[in-house]
Amino acid sequence: MAEKIKVFIADDIAATRENICKLMAFDPSLVIIGHAESGIEAVAKVKKLKPDIILMDINMPGMDGITASEQISADVPESTIIMMSVQGEPEYQRRAMAAGAKNYLVKPFSGDELLQAIKQSFKNENPPSNAIRLDSKQKEQGKLITVFSTKGGIGKTTIAANLAVALAAETGLKIGIVDADLQFGDVALLLNLMPRATIADLVQNIEQLDAKLLEDYLVQFNNNVKLLPAPLRPEQAETVTGSHLSAILGTMRSSFSYTVVDTAPTFSDTMLAVLAASDIILVVAALDLPTIKNVKLCLEVMESLHYGAEKVKVVLNKTTTDGDMDVGEVEESLGYKFAATVPSDSNVVLASVNRGVPFVVSHQATPVSQSIDSLVDLVIGSRRGTELRAGQLALGVVDRVKRLFG
Ligand SMILES: Nc1ncnc2c1ncn2[C@@H]1O[C@H](COP(=O)(O)OP(=O)(O)OP(=O)(O)O)[C@@H](O)[C@H]1O
Ligand SMILES: [Mg+2]
Repeated sequence: MAEKIKVFIADDIAATRENICKLMAFDPSLVIIGHAESGIEAVAKVKKLKPDIILMDINMPGMDGITASEQISADVPESTIIMMSVQGEPEYQRRAMAAGAKNYLVKPFSGDELLQAIKQSFKNENPPSNAIRLDSKQKEQGKLITVFSTKGGIGKTTIAANLAVALAAETGLKIGIVDADLQFGDVALLLNLMPRATIADLVQNIEQLDAKLLEDYLVQFNNNVKLLPAPLRPEQAETVTGSHLSAILGTMRSSFSYTVVDTAPTFSDTMLAVLAASDIILVVAALDLPTIKNVKLCLEVMESLHYGAEKVKVVLNKTTTDGDMDVGEVEESLGYKFAATVPSDSNVVLASVNRGVPFVVSHQATPVSQSIDSLVDLVIGSRRGTELRAGQLALGVVDRVKRLFG
């Protein structure tokens, strides 16, 4: 029989601890190995017991769950923390993830939600050694490339769809796309695909998730590119949770050499789960003041999540030669160099969207297409970099951004 998952509970309320014990009592794959009533007690006991999973209450007297998680993540990194809280706001979830929690449960939760979160978190941290691989050439786990921005309409989907298709063309590897813009995802539209099923259907069977099941929900764009589409209706988005996405992305990794993830412009718990799982986050920016302000805030949150320069790359989209902002000044105000630039070309981009053919296929010789090739180089780690396209001088951008941030 497989070894049981060792669970530790840290919660100051005795009734909550008892309730969790009851919810877990009938599952033979789990065993509770200890509990604590405060953060300090949890840190001390976890060091000795080394549980697989720690269910950590966020609010405890003395040392709270966030501080305890920070210490445990440093001292006992092999234990996986699931934060529990009555507060479901993204800010709490962000702080929990930054402290090292891998999952977040909002109280009150059902027995099913609890068991699924425990098993999924355990599976993510301990992938089975015999995981099914569709790409037999690939010995290592694939990479997750997420295209993100807190600004809507900035070009995330355009870049994600074209990047995935260009990656496949340039490398000959299997490339997956996950449309994680759960309410208004439109990658299928850009690739002219008709989804039979979507991520919302997949999560109905999440308990059985493996590479073989995942394959049933993918739509094929070409021999090397497959898409897991977003739900067809916005109201289905809420059926997909952060832990579902972590599990799905883990399985995509074992099936594809690269998975490109398109996102919604928010720091929701689902997007935080995607960002946490990503190897590279391409943060899309543009040269206008509201976007720069927004992207600066976005980058600050990423820093607070301890995402370093290896993981976070800023991509400048829709550049023009007649822009009135100085690229260097904007980089200075953001504290990041642009890792790649994509020129503005409404004719090419719109023609490609309306025909449902990515411009890297339909308009290969155009600068906008070639800029995506440079993005491929960036993602696969080629030394061929992209030249920054300097715009014309704009006076006082740094000062204006500084003023916005005090
Ligand atoms: N480099 C570009 N040149 C010209 N137009 C572009 C470029 N990139 C994106 N666009 C256009 O900008 C608009 C928004 O693009 P897109 O849908 O990719 O943004 P998004 O960030 O995914 O938006 P949302 O937040 O709504 O999902 C679209 O009309 C698209 O055709
Ligand atoms: Mg989009």
